[in-house]
Amino acid sequence: MPIFNISKEAAIGTAALGVTFAAGLLIGRRYHPALPFGTPKRKKDPLQQYVQDYSLREHPALKKLRLLTSDHPLRIMMVCIEQAQLMANLARLLEAKKVLEIGVFTGYNTLNMALILPVDGKVVACDINEDFINIGRPVWREAGVEHKIDLRIKPAIQTLDELLANGEAGTFDFAFIDADKESYNDYYERCLRLVRKGGIIALDNVLWHGRVLKPQKDDLETQHLHQLNEKILHDTRVNISMLAMGDGVTLAFKL
Ligand SMILES: C[S@@+](CC[C@H](N)C(=O)[O-])C[C@H]1O[C@@H](n2cnc3c(N)ncnc32)[C@H](O)[C@@H]1O
Ligand SMILES: *[C@@H]1O[C@H](CO)[C@@H](O)[C@H](O)[C@H]1NC(C)=O
Repeated sequence: MPIFNISKEAAIGTAALGVTFAAGLLIGRRYHPALPFGTPKRKKDPLQQYVQDYSLREHPALKKLRLLTSDHPLRIMMVCIEQAQLMANLARLLEAKKVLEIGVFTGYNTLNMALILPVDGKVVACDINEDFINIGRPVWREAGVEHKIDLRIKPAIQTLDELLANGEAGTFDFAFIDADKESYNDYYERCLRLVRKGGIIALDNVLWHGRVLKPQKDDLETQHLHQLNEKILHDTRVNISMLAMGDGVTLAFKL
């Protein structure tokens, strides 16, 4: 989601006060009381709108899933659409066959990737919440790509360890890390082993709504993200680009 828009947590609070706490626990995000609560949804920045108007070529199935997701109280978790398009373009450039999605939600980016993969391509999709996925699954099916999606409903770390134990190190072309923030370093380290040389690891929310500028002592998610940004800056295993797109995305190109 765009950096300068309303924060995920505030929007969640506005939309669904009732489910915020439970869902926050479930998805590994905590509600931040310091954030403006009940902030009305701000109008989109005009330049942001221009970028979308003049660059998006959204597949009808993706549009359908986006509209379905827009009714969900936690819709703010959905990936930024122009970022999804960039990731699909990168995956195509890599001629990707195997990709990893860590954090599926309703499956927008999972579908996005499945649509560009060859018939024998595969998205290993990791999430702990099947209710979210049940929203997107009919659209995956309708788009004729469900067979390319290998869904693993369990903590993502477990799935990544299983893939490694199964001898799949160095076989993935692209990985998107977008689940619970405090596990990002664990996901990153495992992805570095699972992704092949020349492959890409994309990490979402690396700017965390600007909070990385001044991580607060009690804010472990922000601290974790900031420390990981610092680590990746000096990581000689990858070349990197950090983009101020959506909520910030780092692209790590495995050397
Ligand atoms: C920001 S959303 C993912 C958005 C998604 N990439 C998209 O395309 O819209 C984060 C997701 O991570 C999932 N999640 C949270 N903790 C997890 C864990 N330990 N293992 C796997 N998934 C987890 C949540 O259930 C949620 O669906
Ligand atoms: C990584 O970046 C360095 C320069 O910073 C460059 O020489 C090298 O070719 C890059 N590697 C790849 C695989 O792009």
